[in-house]
Amino acid sequence: MKNSQVLLSVQHLSKTYQGGEHEVHALNDVSFDLHQGELLAVMGTSGSGKSTLLNIIGALDKPDAGIIKLKGKTPENMFTEPNATQYRRDHIGFIFQQFHLLKDLSVEENVALPLILKGEDLDEMEEKVTEMLEFVGLTPWKTHRPVQLSGGQQQRVAIARALISSPPIILADELTGNLDFNTSTDILHLLMDMKAKLHQSIIMVTHDPYVATFADRVLFFHDGRIVDEYFCTRDETDMDVILNKFQGMLETSS
Ligand SMILES: Nc1ncnc2c1ncn2[C@@H]1O[C@H](COP(=O)(O)OP(=O)(O)O)[C@@H](O)[C@H]1O
Ligand SMILES: [Mg+2]
Repeated sequence: MKNSQVLLSVQHLSKTYQGGEHEVHALNDVSFDLHQGELLAVMGTSGSGKSTLLNIIGALDKPDAGIIKLKGKTPENMFTEPNATQYRRDHIGFIFQQFHLLKDLSVEENVALPLILKGEDLDEMEEKVTEMLEFVGLTPWKTHRPVQLSGGQQQRVAIARALISSPPIILADELTGNLDFNTSTDILHLLMDMKAKLHQSIIMVTHDPYVATFADRVLFFHDGRIVDEYFCTRDETDMDVILNKFQGMLETSS
């Protein structure tokens, strides 16, 4: 992974929220690179700034300082509308813990939505949706509504919707947070498929060490800073090392 191309470069991001009496330093000089085709986990406890980081990379929120580069270039005015929306449409696919599907639309309509917003040609759209539903294993459910599906199936719809416009970067915020262990494992294998078959670049944030073992690399995040890093080896030692580093990080901080 070290030899592959840098797709996204996050440089010196800082973000402070005014939280009533005192300020909250949600991000504190955060810098890292995401490589093409990399599955990167950002792991930290609740409140460590993970969602803030993803929201800024996805131009849903604005940093106080720092820049983002995509393939070496800073997207122009990426934190100001209408550029922010355009940046998201062209570059980012989001996956959230709460799926965020439209309940009155069928599975295939939910998945087609980003293409509809882009004004894509109908035939081309149908072909892409069919292919994507096959990829995530939802072909038999294409005319169902989200309420008729299990949590894991709903997350598969959200993943298909995120992938449908072939964005260079997928951002996943606690994507298994509402799923049981076995369903989480299935979804994490789907992420690995996305990497292997589509060469998809992914950043997933999580508080769960098990989720992080599926990544190529784990950034340990604490109080809005990256404090450690680990390259997964894809064997049973990953879980132990990640747990140890995570616990060590919490002990040194208090
Ligand atoms: N819009 C906001 N206004 C004020 N404080 C916020 C806002 N969003 C996040 N925070 C604070 O910033 C810190 C980081 O939050 P967040 O990025 O959501 O953490 P995580 O996703 O790791 O749980 C927390 O202390 C949180 O309360
Ligand atoms: Mg969060």
